[in-house]
Amino acid sequence: MENWVYNEYKHCGIDYSDLKQAQIYDQQHQKFRNYEKEVADFLQNLALDNTEDLTLIDLACGTGATSIYASKHFKKIYAVDVSEVMIEQAIEKAEEKNITNIEFINSGFLSYEHQEEQVDIVLTKSALHHLPDFWKQIALLKMNQMLKIGGVLYLFDVIFHFDPLEYCSKINQFISTYETAAGEQLKAEVETHIRDEFSTFSWIIEGMLIRAGFKVEKNSLLQDGFIMEYFCKKVKDVNFENYNTSAKNSN
Ligand SMILES: C[S@@+](CC[C@H](N)C(=O)[O-])C[C@H]1O[C@@H](n2cnc3c(N)ncnc32)[C@H](O)[C@@H]1O
Repeated sequence: MENWVYNEYKHCGIDYSDLKQAQIYDQQHQKFRNYEKEVADFLQNLALDNTEDLTLIDLACGTGATSIYASKHFKKIYAVDVSEVMIEQAIEKAEEKNITNIEFINSGFLSYEHQEEQVDIVLTKSALHHLPDFWKQIALLKMNQMLKIGGVLYLFDVIFHFDPLEYCSKINQFISTYETAAGEQLKAEVETHIRDEFSTFSWIIEGMLIRAGFKVEKNSLLQDGFIMEYFCKKVKDVNFENYNTSAKNSN
């Protein structure tokens, strides 16, 4: 491993390698997210007649809620996350529900090398902001490699869509929205998000998507005014200098 490669296993901001964090994750996030509805809306937006023969990669799957709700609609799901403890929660839930078409993989945006056939859909939710911008671009190039031509990249994340001149009032609005929805602990998490994680502006993400061979087909700012979703189509293969990241970074 090159010494300059970003160590994605060292969590910035909220520490998802912490067992306690993994154990409370679902309970916390259910206060402001409805994963079943998110998956239903995603499928509706895809507007495909049949998804049952399609394959999907869920990058940064966390405790697996999206993969689990999506599993009955797809042939096979590869669910990837750098946190062993988040993946363990996901595996437990999938086993309880007798779900057999999800393969859980302890790896990350930068280190995951998809060895199987290219997939139809790559999805990533609430996670790309864990990488600094330079590395987001590299992650998007790698997503291009995982996807078939014409395949869909679905990106859902906190992405700033406001005028940077208004950053103070917008950030305070972001914090108070989540405090109202889910209390003090989430308020602290949003503060950590702003301070220590790497959410970026929409025009930066959009430039990166183009450079990674994607065309944005649909995008929207969700109800809270801070989460954006992008439905993108892979329009070309990108050939780039890839480094071998199959081993965990030990920096
Ligand atoms: C806020 S959670 C989102 C989990 C899930 N996608 C969801 O929507 O509930 C962020 C997840 O990203 C994972 N993560 C952080 N950096 C990552 C990386 N470089 N590659 C893969 N997963 C990463 C964390 O371990 C954590 O499970």
